[in-house]
Amino acid sequence: MYEIKEVKTTPFKDQKPGTSGLRKPVTAFQQPHYLENFIQSIFNSMKGGPRGKSLVLGGDGRYYNKRAIQIIIKMAAANGVRKLMVGRDGFLSTPAVSNIIRKYKLDGGIILSASHNPGGPDGDFGVKFNIENGGPAPEKVTNEIYQQSLRIERYLIAEGPDIDISRDGVEIKILDTTVKIIDPVTDYADLMEELFDFSKIRALLDSGFTMCYDALHAITGIYAREIFVNRLGAPEESLRNCDPLPDFGGGHPDPNLKYAAGLVELMFSQDAPDFGAASDGDGDRNMILGRHFFVTPSDSLAILAANARLAPRYKDGLKGVARSMPTSRAVDQVAQELGLPCYETPTGWKFFGNLLDAGMITLCGEESFGTGSDHIREKDGIWAILFWLNILAEKRTSVAELVRKHWMSHGRNYYTRHDYEEVEREGAQDLMKDLDRRLPELKGQTLAGRTVILADNFCYKDPVDGSKSCNQGIRIGFDDNSRIVYRLSGTGTKGATIRIYIEGYTNAPELLDEDTQEFLSDLIRLSRSISRIKEHIGREEPTVIT
Ligand code: G1P
Ligand code: ZN
Repeated sequence: MYEIKEVKTTPFKDQKPGTSGLRKPVTAFQQPHYLENFIQSIFNSMKGGPRGKSLVLGGDGRYYNKRAIQIIIKMAAANGVRKLMVGRDGFLSTPAVSNIIRKYKLDGGIILSASHNPGGPDGDFGVKFNIENGGPAPEKVTNEIYQQSLRIERYLIAEGPDIDISRDGVEIKILDTTVKIIDPVTDYADLMEELFDFSKIRALLDSGFTMCYDALHAITGIYAREIFVNRLGAPEESLRNCDPLPDFGGGHPDPNLKYAAGLVELMFSQDAPDFGAASDGDGDRNMILGRHFFVTPSDSLAILAANARLAPRYKDGLKGVARSMPTSRAVDQVAQELGLPCYETPTGWKFFGNLLDAGMITLCGEESFGTGSDHIREKDGIWAILFWLNILAEKRTSVAELVRKHWMSHGRNYYTRHDYEEVEREGAQDLMKDLDRRLPELKGQTLAGRTVILADNFCYKDPVDGSKSCNQGIRIGFDDNSRIVYRLSGTGTKGATIRIYIEGYTNAPELLDEDTQEFLSDLIRLSRSISRIKEHIGREEPTVIT
């Protein structure tokens, strides 16, 4: 019924994977051969070729997911992949894929997602490739995929009818490939039940503690229903926007104060539940809220690290922790106190992979609403939420109280990120080059009463394999523990995005409850003058503040 067809093609020049896979507007992926070229490049980059390999395939359900799944199944078959596990209806969250690769010892996985970017025909689409450890392909692999994409001349695809992926448990043979349709949720929910004390969380929810989970109409809706409602007994009303939609209901599936506005409004209202949380398009990000309280992701990482022993999986303590460079140093304080190694890595989850594989860290996180551990090799939204619930179930305290107590003992790292989106590429690049050039003269200067003690362009040497990743962002550190970081986004699809990360620190008890933008206002002004942002891009007000 299926026949292998060889299709002649020519390279697209823009298939270089960014921070997290290849991400482009849907319309780019709809160009003839565009998706096929990239998928064939992934296959071509595999050591020993794709023949005989085992892979998992699924996506966040965004527009074009279903079409792309059919194309990829047929290409996998034509390329001799031995076994292909496919999420029912083409659904699989990013953390679920990572778990499946590890659990079934597969050679890798393909995730169709543009994470938190909007969906629909005018939105974005993306392809990520994960390797056999379950994590995102490291740079040497993504570079190889890119090189393959620049010299591709043909791809292989099986010609034949579309495959029915609507029922799980079914196995279909296409050429030499066994396609197995799997339930997207069960394996992941089982893993969560192993890591956390579900009976304690259930008891918390039975005790009158209320929660609200917002899936923002993305993939985690199906996971949330199984875990929070079916397995933990939360009432159905605890779920918001939990039916996945191809356009995410027109919203940005990004769990932050701006894009999860409905949830935020509820959590700051009179009727606010005790706990609120949200996740992104593909389920790897998380936002944690308490009643009338927002937890910054950097604080969340620090608090999880400080209280990790309360969850069964981490009861013996942590091996070490890591954070991406721009993430606040709140977790560093915890690591110091616990005597744990603490690593600073470039932005992007792939940089945690080696540290996790080598057993050097247990927990890691990014300021961009990403937290995770060695249970898989991706950040994990629902995992972080369950971790919080497990801690609250043990402590029987409110979110705000837990965080305030943490600040009392460790001090508070006030933290904000200012994004300048859709900036002209040239201006953004000039700003970074100009900063880079002025680094030597910045060091030692006193600006607004603070002396610059660190001014560099972050270059990371991986302690496991010795590989170097340079030009990862400009760090300006001051003598009062404050810090400004500049970098360009590697995930945006329109123009350039400049990210400025601003961090101030205090351990003065009377200063722990200030407004963040207020507390950081001097540093914010400084971040603009040091970078001469107005000269470079013609404006100095950010588009998004988190
Ligand atoms: C952004 C975040 C980064 C995260 C990535 C993928 O990348 O800043 O922390 O790993 O999305 O979710 P950026 O656009 O800054 O390159
Ligand atoms: Zn994501």
